[in-house]
Amino acid sequence: MATIFLIGYMGSGKSTAGKKLAAKLQVDFVDLDKFIETESGQPITAIFAEKGENEFRALENNALKKLVNESHDRVIACGGGTPCYYGNMELMNNHGITIYLKMSADALASRLVNAKDKRPLLENKTEEELRNFITEHLEKREDIYHQAQYIIKGKNLDVDEMVEFVASLK
Ligand code: S3P
Repeated sequence: MATIFLIGYMGSGKSTAGKKLAAKLQVDFVDLDKFIETESGQPITAIFAEKGENEFRALENNALKKLVNESHDRVIACGGGTPCYYGNMELMNNHGITIYLKMSADALASRLVNAKDKRPLLENKTEEELRNFITEHLEKREDIYHQAQYIIKGKNLDVDEMVEFVASLK
């Protein structure tokens, strides 16, 4: 086994898939956002509001490095922006298996319309603004997401199939 990093846009189902994958593989699961919240003692929304996104990205990079240095096999669900800052994508590719859960901007917008308030980058947007923002933002991020070693279509993700696939990589 190696550490498995699940990456993908907000709302692509990284945490849900990651929990199931970890349970099936009988390894620990870490949600990077939750780990940052525990380490910093603050919710993500408060970190963004009080310290700003740059400081959040620094905390995110520190949290990732800390987990990577523990070299403990597990499944880590990253935040949507994790691969895009501080060379995190390269760090993950050098330390484990990276899997991009890919979903269209349209599908993401539908999933996020009722789940945007916990996400500082999306809050206060109307549905139309949300769709436009996600379309552009995803396009900017996809070059990085595509550096993942494996790409799995996230819509209708069959976690059992995914587990079999990951198991076959060993
Ligand atoms: C972010 C995604 C969030 C969280 C933060 C920033 C992003 O995680 O890390 O709000 O830049 O895409 P999820 O992908 O788990 O929502």
